[in-house]
Amino acid sequence: MKNILIIGANSAIATACARQWATEPARFFLVARNTEKLEQVAADLRARGTSLVQTHALDLNDLPSHESMLAEAFSTLGRVDVCLIAHGTLPDQAACQQDVDVALREFSSNGLSVIALLTRLANRMEEQRTGTLAVISSVAGDRGRPSNYLYGTAKAAVSTFCEGLRARLFKVGVHVLTIKPGFVDTPMTQGLTLPKLLLATPDQVARDINRAIEKHRDSIYTPWFWSLIMLLIRNIPTGLFKKTNI
Ligand SMILES: NC(=O)c1ccc[n+]([C@@H]2O[C@H](COP(=O)([O-])OP(=O)(O)OC[C@H]3O[C@@H](n4cnc5c(N)ncnc54)[C@H](OP(=O)(O)O)[C@@H]3O)[C@@H](O)[C@H]2O)c1
Repeated sequence: MKNILIIGANSAIATACARQWATEPARFFLVARNTEKLEQVAADLRARGTSLVQTHALDLNDLPSHESMLAEAFSTLGRVDVCLIAHGTLPDQAACQQDVDVALREFSSNGLSVIALLTRLANRMEEQRTGTLAVISSVAGDRGRPSNYLYGTAKAAVSTFCEGLRARLFKVGVHVLTIKPGFVDTPMTQGLTLPKLLLATPDQVARDINRAIEKHRDSIYTPWFWSLIMLLIRNIPTGLFKKTNI
């Protein structure tokens, strides 16, 4: 029986992961903000025969409330085998440039809230001496691009935090996985014009996440070809890069 904590459980990528986990015996503690959607996600997992699905409504920008949520999650599940952190927003970069409050709120949604969660989770997982922390970052964190550098900055912070945390928790048997998706067809990207050839489904990404957890991978690009795309993007000389609008 796998005990799974999903933070940002309403995310399309997270629900695809949960459905794959539900094919084996599993117990879930789901955390999300939109309660109506959360109950639908929970009902779907129960209908698949899952023995325990508990929900907890929380706006993850409410950082002081993380502790009581985690206390409830750990007391419900006992041991946490996998914790997936999946919440996030795709900020309007132009709005972030005009309004510092918008910029900081978006930085909190995508960066600070994840770091706050991981700081508390790390200590609990360190005590357990087992389990996986799987964290959804993004290819956007690999380089600050003019079209979305607020989001990219937050994701870069998450990726770097995970790298340090991985080296700390490795010594006590806890696995930290950094997940860097490219373009995924989810509510987050609805309305954007994205190249069809590069657009993955949440199911595809969930399969990659599952495999990476099983194989104890440190970090993945999903789909895999984003490792090549980002290798190219990271290596564009600054003189040329600053002339682009990507
Ligand atoms: N889609 C892509 O192309 C793509 C690419 C790279 C990385 N990612 C990352 O993948 C992760 C999952 O995103 P997705 O593509 O699955 O998009 P999604 O379906 O839109 O899910 C994002 C979820 O984040 C939750 N959320 C946002 N702010 C929150 C807050 N303050 N408190 C609680 N929940 C909050 C929303 O929850 P509610 O529904 O409860 O409001 C929403 O369900 C995110 O970290 C995203 O940055 C996505």
